[in-house]
Amino acid sequence: MFWGGQAFLTYKIKYGGFFKVVIERTTIVVWSNNMSIWEKSNWRSKPRVQMPDYTNQEILNSVEKQLSAYPPLVFAGEARNLKEKLAYASKGKAFLLQGGDCAESFEQFSADSIRDTFKVMLQMAMVLTFGAKVPVIKVGRMAGQFAKPRSAPTEIQNGKELPSYRGDIINELAFTEKARIPNAKKMLQAYTQAAATLNLIRAFSSGGYADVNQVHSWTLGFTEGEKAVQYREMAKRIKDALDFMKAAGLEGKSSYELRTVDFYTSHESLLLEYEEALTRLDSTSGKWLAGSGHMIWIGDRTRQPDGAHVEFARGVLNPIGLKCGPTTTEDDLKVLLSKLNPNNEPGKLTLIARFGAGRVGDHLPRLIKVVEQEGADVVWCCDAMHGNTIKSSTGYKTRPFESVLREVREFFEIHKAEGTIPGGVHFEMTGQDVTECTGGVRAVTDENLSDRYHTACDPRLNASQSLELAFLVADELVARRTAAQVTGAA
Ligand code: PEP
Ligand code: CO
Repeated sequence: MFWGGQAFLTYKIKYGGFFKVVIERTTIVVWSNNMSIWEKSNWRSKPRVQMPDYTNQEILNSVEKQLSAYPPLVFAGEARNLKEKLAYASKGKAFLLQGGDCAESFEQFSADSIRDTFKVMLQMAMVLTFGAKVPVIKVGRMAGQFAKPRSAPTEIQNGKELPSYRGDIINELAFTEKARIPNAKKMLQAYTQAAATLNLIRAFSSGGYADVNQVHSWTLGFTEGEKAVQYREMAKRIKDALDFMKAAGLEGKSSYELRTVDFYTSHESLLLEYEEALTRLDSTSGKWLAGSGHMIWIGDRTRQPDGAHVEFARGVLNPIGLKCGPTTTEDDLKVLLSKLNPNNEPGKLTLIARFGAGRVGDHLPRLIKVVEQEGADVVWCCDAMHGNTIKSSTGYKTRPFESVLREVREFFEIHKAEGTIPGGVHFEMTGQDVTECTGGVRAVTDENLSDRYHTACDPRLNASQSLELAFLVADELVARRTAAQVTGAA
């Protein structure tokens, strides 16, 4: 087999008395026994799971052709910047906040819902920054989070069996035969929605909406309630810090930083026809960019080391996430570490642990051991949602706030015991006032779930639950810093 790489040749040419530097790229091909040249379509020859079988090949081909001609949604420089920031998170010098819908929906697409999720993520980031005293990297499950892996290929309702809903980019939620047929044209709508979402996020990020004082004034509103008394003190201290900066005239000097944010997008790289069609060669580095979002991740159900999804993700320059659930074996993880980050590039690979409250201790230590033995540079992130889904007494799929919090706490405790770094958190959440997860200061009960249960897939934390969680995670981060100061650890 081949190993494909690129080298840069530098020539100096005498040019009107000056030297002009010309850099040319050339491809070197080296034989190797266990690697192969990566091409964006190679995944097609690998076993694939959780992907639709499109019945109309002609439509599929035409959609892929159109998407291949469209502009990518993100630029390679942005993906590289995110990777650099994640490298800091792997060393405890930054903290990752990843969050958003379980599944973005065509029907619920609106400026308000994008704004509300963006807004609550900024609030959470501010609270977490206070706790961690390091920059918080904001990554939305947005502008591309459309395709869903499912636990069963079919669904039965009132005795009738139909193919499962697989996300709006593939088929429709309505329980009819027609709605459940995969339709490749939906990829075009997903692309358009992702482009419009990203456009609005970019406008909010740099147009003044993200001003730090404004973000904090929203948070103060949350802490006014009677039950939010425990969060008021932290919010007040953040306000004092901002007031001090204003009084000392420091705000004007760095007003650009205080008025803008870097906000990145991410999604599960599940529908590989869509991913491949948006993959572009980056002329600066000669590497391939998954142009569908800044960061992509591989799901817990599609991480087979020899499968199609790993094959696709291993060749792109973007930062990659890998979901690790209870069935992740040490052997698989070892192979995945070397396939997905062969050069052990810092910030390249984020391991997103999702074991469920009460089970983190059974799995995280054994996986940490593999990472340490391999000397792998990874960001450890905690997805406290996917291991905590239950059926409520009223029949809804839900997640108790207490379990989400408990999993985060266990994640922090284990990293403390192992002397490793908890680098981030991952939540399914929305800025809207939905009733999908139970608990929180503005308690949602099993009986309330039917009030505003809008998710197209898994239950999300609402705005108030998300912010509350940020305060509680910030407490953990403060405790960790305090302990590190006492012991003199880094
Ligand atoms: C998800 O993140 O929505 C998801 C399906 O996660 P996992 O692959 O961890 O089950
Ligand atoms: Co989900």
